[in-house]
Amino acid sequence: MNIQQIDAHATSLRHGELHHGRSVERLVAGTATSDGAGVKLTRVLTQQLQQRLDPFLMLDAFGSENPGDYIAGFPDHPHRGFETVTYMIAGRMRHRDSAGHEGLLENGGVQWMTAGRGVVHSEIPQQEEGTMEGFQLWLNLPAQEKMGAPWYRDFAAAELPRYVTDAGVEVTVIAGASAGVAGAVSRATTEPLYLDIHLPADTSFTQALPAEHNAFVYVYRGEVSIAGTAVPQQRMAILANDARADQILIEARQPARVLLIAGRPLHEPIVQYGPFVMNTKQQIYEALSDFRDGRLG
Ligand code: FE2
Repeated sequence: MNIQQIDAHATSLRHGELHHGRSVERLVAGTATSDGAGVKLTRVLTQQLQQRLDPFLMLDAFGSENPGDYIAGFPDHPHRGFETVTYMIAGRMRHRDSAGHEGLLENGGVQWMTAGRGVVHSEIPQQEEGTMEGFQLWLNLPAQEKMGAPWYRDFAAAELPRYVTDAGVEVTVIAGASAGVAGAVSRATTEPLYLDIHLPADTSFTQALPAEHNAFVYVYRGEVSIAGTAVPQQRMAILANDARADQILIEARQPARVLLIAGRPLHEPIVQYGPFVMNTKQQIYEALSDFRDGRLG
């Protein structure tokens, strides 16, 4: 045990309860691919992991200093049946959709879009040079909400709830709650937790996590350690579901930045066809014919 672990352990004991941290089940490197009109990205959470990480359907990481990798963006395309959460670390992207929403997403901002029964939208870079870096997460909707009304919100970096721990760890609470700080968005059924955690060297961070929730950590700067497993940069650590575990402890020897994402699994059938994620094949055929006939947006 290092000093912080002993400290955390002593705090647990003082409170009369013994905490148990999640361990790492496996590390995932992701798959290099491209989407939209040729945007280069790494698909970290791929279709094969949708059951394991239910209610999350996809996590893409994009980051490049070469405009050729991102300039064409994502021209008009449809979605139905889930939510997209875009977190822009660096860069500027303009969003427009068929529900009449328009917004500029930039440096540290989040765009949360609930596609529901359907939107057609575009996501186009507003820069011709410089770095474009960020993430897009897909969060499933429960069966009874898949055909609900579309919803959309932009949060500028300054609007996102944020706090700093005594050790100097900076936490941005995009969804859910952390240390009593409520996130920008909450969802009753999937209860998503989405934290961006900046750890200085030789610090640690603890977050309560319900045992039944599926959870993962993505390291985008530096390296961290979770229950003795080193998690290097650009790796996702899938956290084991352990009935005894009530938290996660993340330790950093060097400065590190990680995303911690968790949620309550829906345990419903997942049928994906491109930008449509429904519960049955029949619903996918309906989505395709609604899109073809212009009834989607
Ligand atoms: Fe999209």
